[in-house]
Amino acid sequence: MRLYSLLAAAKINLYLEIVGSRPDGFHELIMVMQSVSLCDRITVRSIGIDEIRVRCDHPLVPADDTNLAYKAAALVSQRFPGVMAKLGGVEITIEKQIPVGAGLAGGSANAAAVLVGLDLLWNLGLAQGELQALGAELGSDVPFCVAGGTAIATGRGEQLDSLPGIDSLHLVLAKYESEFVSTPWAYQTYRAEYGDTYTDAQGWQARQSQVRSGDMVRAVAKRDAIALSQHLYNDFEKVVLPAHPKTAALQATMADLGGLGTLMSGSGPSVFTLAESEAQAIDLATRLRSALPDPDLGVWTAQFIPSGVRLAS
Ligand code: C5P
Repeated sequence: MRLYSLLAAAKINLYLEIVGSRPDGFHELIMVMQSVSLCDRITVRSIGIDEIRVRCDHPLVPADDTNLAYKAAALVSQRFPGVMAKLGGVEITIEKQIPVGAGLAGGSANAAAVLVGLDLLWNLGLAQGELQALGAELGSDVPFCVAGGTAIATGRGEQLDSLPGIDSLHLVLAKYESEFVSTPWAYQTYRAEYGDTYTDAQGWQARQSQVRSGDMVRAVAKRDAIALSQHLYNDFEKVVLPAHPKTAALQATMADLGGLGTLMSGSGPSVFTLAESEAQAIDLATRLRSALPDPDLGVWTAQFIPSGVRLAS
C-alpha cells in the first residue's frame, strides 16, 4: 500500500490541574483527557523523491518544517535511517476540521496520525508504546492523541493510564475564530499568579492519589454522566477567562443553556458543554447560535469516542 488515510481525533480535558513546576521547565499536571469525534483527516502517501512534504487546506497551518506533522515524519526518518532512501519520501496531506489554536490538541493529533501512518507506510512494526514514546519527543499531548479514548494523564501530560470509555456522551464545542491563546503564555501567566500554590514532587504524588480516587475519576469509572459533568475542572480558566472576556461571555452563555456541564478545554479558548444525547447536543448548538449570532463564532457538535488515531474507511 502506498497511501494511508487516517482520522486524528481532537481531545478535550474533563479535568486539568496544574500542581507544580518541573526541573525540565514544564509543569506537572493531573488531567483527565477524552477523545472526541471532531477529526482531521491525514493522508500519508509515498513519493519517489527522498523528502517530506506537507500540504494543508487551512490558511493558518504552516505547510513547512515548523508543522508538528512534518516534525513527526522527520523524527521517524531520523530514527530509521535509510528508510526514505529505500521506500521513498512522504507527502502528508492535512484536511482540517479541528479548530486551530483552540486547546483541542489539533496539531498534536496530526503528529500522532503521521506516526501511526508512517509505521504502516514504512512497515516499521512499532508497538503503540513505541509510537507514544516518539510522540512524547514532539509534544506533551501527542502520546495521548496516538491512543486516545479516556485517560488520566500525569507528568507533562505524557504518562497515561486508560480509564473506561463513556461513548454515550455528546457535546457542543464552540470557539471564536479570531480568539487564540498561546499555550506558553497560559502556563507563564498561571505560574506568575498561582506559582505560590505549587508543591514539591511528594506533594504531586499525594495530589495524584487524591485525584485518582476522587470525584471525577470515580464518575468516569462508574460511567456516571451527571456526576462527571458536576466535577469538570480546569485551572486554566482562572487565567485565560479574565484575559479573554469574549470567551468568558461564551462560557457563561453556554453554561446557561441547560446542558450537563460546561468547561474551557486545555489552555483554551474553545469551550464545551456536555449533552446526554445527540438530539440534546444539536438543540444546544442551535440555541447557542441564536443566543450569540456572531459569524466569528464556530460551533460544532461531537461525541466521546474510544480512539485517538484510526484508519479512515
Ligand atoms: O509539550 P508542548 O509542546 O505541547 O508544550 C507547549 C508549551 O506549553 C511548552 O513549551 C511549555 O511552555 C508549556 N507546557 C508546560 N507544561 C506542560 C506542557 C506544556 O509548561 N506540562
